[in-house]
Amino acid sequence: MERVRGVVLAGGTGSRLYPLTKVTNKHLLPVGRYPMIYYPVAKLVQAQVTDILVVTGPEHMGDVVNLLGSGSAWNARFTYRVQDDPGGIAQALALARDFAAGGAVVAVLGDNIFDASIAPFLRRFQGQERGARILLKEVPDPERYGVADVRDGHVVGIEEKPAHPRSRLCVTGIYMYDQDVFDVIATLRPSGRGELEISDVNNHYVRAGTLAYDELPGWWTDAGTLPSLRLANELALGIPEDALPVPKHR
Ligand code: DAU
Repeated sequence: MERVRGVVLAGGTGSRLYPLTKVTNKHLLPVGRYPMIYYPVAKLVQAQVTDILVVTGPEHMGDVVNLLGSGSAWNARFTYRVQDDPGGIAQALALARDFAAGGAVVAVLGDNIFDASIAPFLRRFQGQERGARILLKEVPDPERYGVADVRDGHVVGIEEKPAHPRSRLCVTGIYMYDQDVFDVIATLRPSGRGELEISDVNNHYVRAGTLAYDELPGWWTDAGTLPSLRLANELALGIPEDALPVPKHR
């Protein structure tokens, strides 16, 4: 897999942060020195993924475009697509089909904040002939996430927010997929919570025997709840000011 395009998924309702998200998008809230969405964008740019599609809802697309612009200030190129209704992460990713132009994608959730570079894992993915690659992280509260069941170095299944997790290995919101992902999403049906689930996409690759994984080093958190937003702020403030390739602001 040669060229990999980037996707930042920044739709959804942000309902768990209401009323902070009543008139603004969750991904525009402050995390450390920057708006939240700077972090996933910067992580892609840091890994030399500079062709990036940003997906968000119609209400705040204007603000997101105002913030990020064309990408020239990031030495990158940004494209935007509207997700009309928050029908799930996989539905948002499906909007990248034309953008991907028959190639592979690396998708990052707009509320995932972490310190390691994704470049080494992206290189391993590019060395794969096909399939997908996910990044796992041990967490104390796996029931909040997609949880991977790993046996003998292979992911044998992923459960979305299980009441009784089989491991502490959370599936982080950093996903690498070959071009087949769009055909996979087209076969999905909405889950109990009415969403097209990214865990269903990943389980499809598990069944095909083509889901690889790495463990993400360093710290990782989402920022979608008040406690995790607070933690994200604390952790992000510890990132040295010049460590992320964000535009220089006056
Ligand atoms: O953070 C990692 C977790 O993210 C994974 O472990 C889970 O498997 C995955 O389902 C997801 O769980 P959440 O319940 O935390 O996802 P949430 O609905 O909070 O959405 C996370 C991001 O995905 C959000 O910041 C923006 C994007 N998103 C979400 C939805 C539902 C969209 O772009 N469109 C959507 O419709």
